[in-house]
Amino acid sequence: MYDVFSLPAIDFPEGFLWGSATAGHQVEGDNIHSQLWAREHEAEGREPSGKACNHYALYRQDVDLIAELGHQAYRASVEWSRIEPVEGDWNAEAVEHYVDLVRRLKERGVQPVITLRHMTHPEWFEQLGAFGKAENLRYFERFVDYIVPKLSPYVDAWLVINEFNMAWTDPHAGPLKLNMLKAHARGYHVIKQHSQAPVSTAHAYIHWFPYRRHDDLDNRMTAYLDFVTHEFFFHAIRTGEFVFPYMDAVCDPEIKGTLDFWAVNYYTRHMVDARKKAFEGERFGHKQLKMISKDYWFEEMFPEGLIANLERLKDLPVIITENGLSANDDRWRIVYLALHLSALKEAIDRGVDVRGYLHWSLMDNYEWGSFLPRFGLVNCDFATFERTPKPSAYFFRDIIRENRMTPAMIRKHLKELPTLGEPGIRAKD
Ligand code: BGC
Repeated sequence: MYDVFSLPAIDFPEGFLWGSATAGHQVEGDNIHSQLWAREHEAEGREPSGKACNHYALYRQDVDLIAELGHQAYRASVEWSRIEPVEGDWNAEAVEHYVDLVRRLKERGVQPVITLRHMTHPEWFEQLGAFGKAENLRYFERFVDYIVPKLSPYVDAWLVINEFNMAWTDPHAGPLKLNMLKAHARGYHVIKQHSQAPVSTAHAYIHWFPYRRHDDLDNRMTAYLDFVTHEFFFHAIRTGEFVFPYMDAVCDPEIKGTLDFWAVNYYTRHMVDARKKAFEGERFGHKQLKMISKDYWFEEMFPEGLIANLERLKDLPVIITENGLSANDDRWRIVYLALHLSALKEAIDRGVDVRGYLHWSLMDNYEWGSFLPRFGLVNCDFATFERTPKPSAYFFRDIIRENRMTPAMIRKHLKELPTLGEPGIRAKD
């Protein structure tokens, strides 16, 4: 099932946009004013982000690397907590840093795709109750209004928020989700005042899958999770109506139509087991891929989920804003890329207007509490911060150069299919 050598050649539509993605907190380092910084140090069993990839200092060389690897677009996030470390106190140095980042990308022919909030916000905002209180949205709106005009001469696409759809699946999470949705919508309208570039919000497209196909409750919980993570969002964007369990529906015309394209982050499927308190089911053992020493949610490839999910999004153009794999053995990344690009092509052939693909991630980085999961096309040595492109980076570069993927390219970069049976395959963690 992972036999990528038998895949046929595929061509992508003309003008298809290729690139990679990162997020500030995961690569920059020393993000000391964010709400996560102190908590990372306190929480047991979690590694703090520390210097991460030291990207804040090394961004100039990273821009060169991005260009050398042929990427045509680069998704990065700006850290609100650097730009406004104290409420109302703007940090000119941080602003200049991000302006220089997007300007340099542009100069090297790479289109900047900028996320305004990727999981982090300032500690002072956290203290005020963050997005939990509707009256706090004005702070986020003010931040967007402050930073967007400074970056807009160089930015080609905006993502207001990353993946708020995924969090909070309990039935009483509605008010918080509504606040996030409003934050997105307000961000959208503010950006429109300063920029012509298309705007979206990155959607975590988890493919929920019933653990037991015949079981009524597994199926109902799968549908429930799909609703509270996906459908509530699609419905709100399409109609302006926010529907969520245990809440009166809310109609807000400001929400309707606040996406210029669907921004999709897709990784794999998640099993739904209604007999478990958290509904998180085991993966099918025969398909399990234990690719790092740590227990980790990413232990299966399920490219079919990408096709099934994209078929729901035929009403707007789509950009894949994240897709990638955590593995020590980079050959698995080549397998993953080949399978998911084939699936993407199948979705395009089924009528989904996919315009681009950004791989997660440019380089190995801080994976929210641990440096063990390795998602990078480029290896990052966390002691020296040396960057070394992996074979998958050159495979991806060939695909970008030709705007197609062929069996010869796969053969060139992958000598044989990897197997977890080989000693040492989980490598030096
Ligand atoms: C997030 C990234 C994260 C990746 C891999 C996505 O949900 O946006 O920040 O690193 O998944 O877990």
